[in-house]
Parts: sequence; C-alpha cells; structure tokens
Amino acid sequence: REIAIVLGTRPEIIKLAPIIRECEAQSIPYTVIHTGQHYSDSLTSVFFEELSLPKPEYELSVGSGTHGQQTGQMIIDIEAVLLEEEPDVVLVQGDTNSVLSGAIACCKLSIELGHVEAGLRSRDREMPEERNRVLADHASEYLFAPTAQSKRSLREEGIDDDRIHVTGNTVVDAVRQHKRVAMAETSVFDDYDLTRGEYCLLTAHRAETVDDEGRFASLLEGVGRVAERLDQDVLYPIHPRAANAVAEFGLEIPDRVRTVDPLDYIDFLALESGATLILTDSGGVQEEACILGVPCVTLRENTERPETLAVDANVLAGTDPQSIYEGAREMLDRSPNWENPFGDGDAAARIVDVIRQSETPARVAG
Ligand code: UD1
Ligand code: UDP
Repeated sequence: REIAIVLGTRPEIIKLAPIIRECEAQSIPYTVIHTGQHYSDSLTSVFFEELSLPKPEYELSVGSGTHGQQTGQMIIDIEAVLLEEEPDVVLVQGDTNSVLSGAIACCKLSIELGHVEAGLRSRDREMPEERNRVLADHASEYLFAPTAQSKRSLREEGIDDDRIHVTGNTVVDAVRQHKRVAMAETSVFDDYDLTRGEYCLLTAHRAETVDDEGRFASLLEGVGRVAERLDQDVLYPIHPRAANAVAEFGLEIPDRVRTVDPLDYIDFLALESGATLILTDSGGVQEEACILGVPCVTLRENTERPETLAVDANVLAGTDPQSIYEGAREMLDRSPNWENPFGDGDAAARIVDVIRQSETPARVAG
C-alpha cells in the first residue's frame, strides 16, 4: 500500500523519521509532503540532513500566517499533491496546523488517514494544538495511540476500539536511534563551554506563553531564579517565535540564562541527556526528558503528557516565578529512576505493520 507522509514542523520531522526509515527498511512505497510551515534551516532542513532523510518529494512553501491563511493554503496545496499521487493512506503526526490541514484534505478526498500520536489531550481548548488533535483524531481511520491512557481518552470520545492501535510513541524510537551518536559525536559541550550535570536546559515557545508579555516575563524571571539559586547557567535554544517576542516586548533575559539559536537534534539530545534539569513548555521535550531520566519542570498549567506526571518524571509549574523555583527544587529532590511510559522504541514498526496488513480499508463509524 502506498503511503503519503505529511509533515511541516521540527517535531513532526523528528518523530516521523523512524517511520520513514521503517518504510525504507520494508520497501514500502512512500512520498513525503513538506508543507513548509517551518522554513528556517534551523527548524527544518538541518533535521533532514543530520537524520539522513531523503529530501521530501514535495515542498509546499506555505510559510507563516494567521491560522486560517496557513491552514487554508496548506489544504489547497496538499489536496493538489494527493490528487496527483493517489496514495492509499496518508500519515500525519501530532497537533500542528500541518496535521489539521492534512486531515481535512484527506476527508475531502475520502483518502484514509492515520494519526500518529493520537489521543493526547490537555483538556485546554485555548491551545490551538488541542483543537487540531481532537479534529485530526475524529477524522482518522487509523489512530496510533502512544499509550493506554491516550487510547482511553479516544474511547471516552466514542471512537471505535478497532480504529485504535496502541503502539508506543515514535519519540522513543528517535531517542534510541540517535542517543549513542549524540553522546559520542557531539561537540556541543565544548561549543557552549558546558559541563555535564552542571547546567539546566530551557525551551519555551508556546503561543499562549510567549505571545503574552506578562506571562513570558514571569517565566523568564522564574527560570532566572532557578539559575541563581542552583548556581548553574541555563542554556535556552530559542525558537524564532520566542526570539521575536523577546525583541517585540523588549524583555530582559536574566544574567545566567544564555539564549542560543535552535540546535540540531544530535546536539539538543546530548544537551538534554547532560542537563541537571530541563525546564520546558514543549510536548516532545517533556517526553524526551522522561525517556532520558532527566527531571523536568513544565512551564504550563496542564499537559497532554500526563504519563510523565504519573511516573514522577515531571511537575507542572505554570509561569509563576516562585512555583517554577519550587517545581525545580521538588524535581531535584526526586530520584530519577522512573519507568519510561512511552513504549519500547518499536512504535514505527508497529505503525507500518498495521498499515501494511490492513488490506480492507477501515471505515469511520457513523
Ligand atoms: C508550531 C506549532 C506548535 C509546535 C511548533 C513546533 C501550530 C499551531 N503550532 O508552532 O504546535 O509546537 O510549531 O516548533 O501549528 N517562524 C520562523 N521560521 C520558521 C517558522 C516560524 O521564523 O521556520 C516564526 C515566524 O515568525 C512565525 C512564528 O515563528 O510567525 C510562528 O510559526 P508557526 O509555524 O505559526 O508556529 P510555531 O510557533 O512554530
Ligand atoms: N529540539 C531540537 N532542537 C532544539 C529544540 C528542540 O532538536 O533546539 C527537538 C526536541 O529534541 C524535540 C522536538 O524538537 O524532539 C520538540 O519540538 P518543539 O518543542 O518545537 O515542539 P513540540 O514538541 O512542543 O510540539
């Protein structure tokens, strides 16, 4: 069966890379359609190069815009490719506007859709990602839920059991495939003059945080407090959305917080592994911290990754400076010997097997 893989942002490239490799390994015909939602080299082409992925067959160059503009243009452009390619199944991953667009294009053409990382729920409908996930899940014939918890969330919404496949999260495959190389080959510690176990790592890019001046300033103050009191630098590879917000609001970055350009995956994975503590509002970074056994403080009020809280690998601190500091203290007092709840690193193989074996198209109930 022929698969089209729609992707458009950094986390989608990283988490779909194991599936692309699996298609190669099993000689399954596939096409990659890059929407162009991310276009800066540091958010896209760097990953294709270092993860040795073939160049996408289609590069749609949609770029940035309002949600409606971006999503609308992507639907139009993806539809044109799907009409040309006529795949049997389309795969999307996660919760971005590229995912929603791929899902709608499939619905309109009655092409089967598989959603990788189905069933994640923050229950926060203010997040554009939450709406994208819910819509993509309900549009999908194949729902690849990473955990039993995500399957339960889908069942609670009335999605048929036979459409849901618990596979683990492909982020575990990605970490396993790259960690050894990351630790052996990175020069990131020298590049940034850091010693393993003597620094913290920060990422913050969510629209609801960095687009709000007060909330972003408060987050930075909290992270600065952690740095001062732990007497450790905090490295902050800064996403362009956040860098733009810092400039626009004229925010001050605390002394011991060091902003650097976004990093490639190998360097970032090495930095995650060597950090004392990870502070983040990213979904994928919460998962990777948990998998790598590094304590995590999530700079949000909620998470669609509750498995990380259940195994004590993560706390929710929001953006209040004192609760960020207290969250950091609490996490550093815990021993990092939790179980990885996201599977065994064979998620991509399971996903590809499900698609390969489903000769009879699954049907959406109702
Ligand atoms: C998107 C996803 C978010 C995901 C993140 C991964 C949606 C609604 N959001 O957020 O869920 O966590 O990607 O990193 O899909 N920009 C650049 N270069 C780029 C891309 C963006 O400079 O290559 C800047 C532009 O100023 C743009 C802003 O970042 O306006 C936001 O980009 P956008 O793709 O809309 O959302 P992200 O914040 O990247
Ligand atoms: N990441 C990276 N370089 C960086 C920051 C993050 O390679 O400078 C990786 C990280 O390891 C994870 C993914 O990007 O796999 C997370 O993407 P992001 O935080 O942009 O999106 P989210 O997961 O929140 O949707």
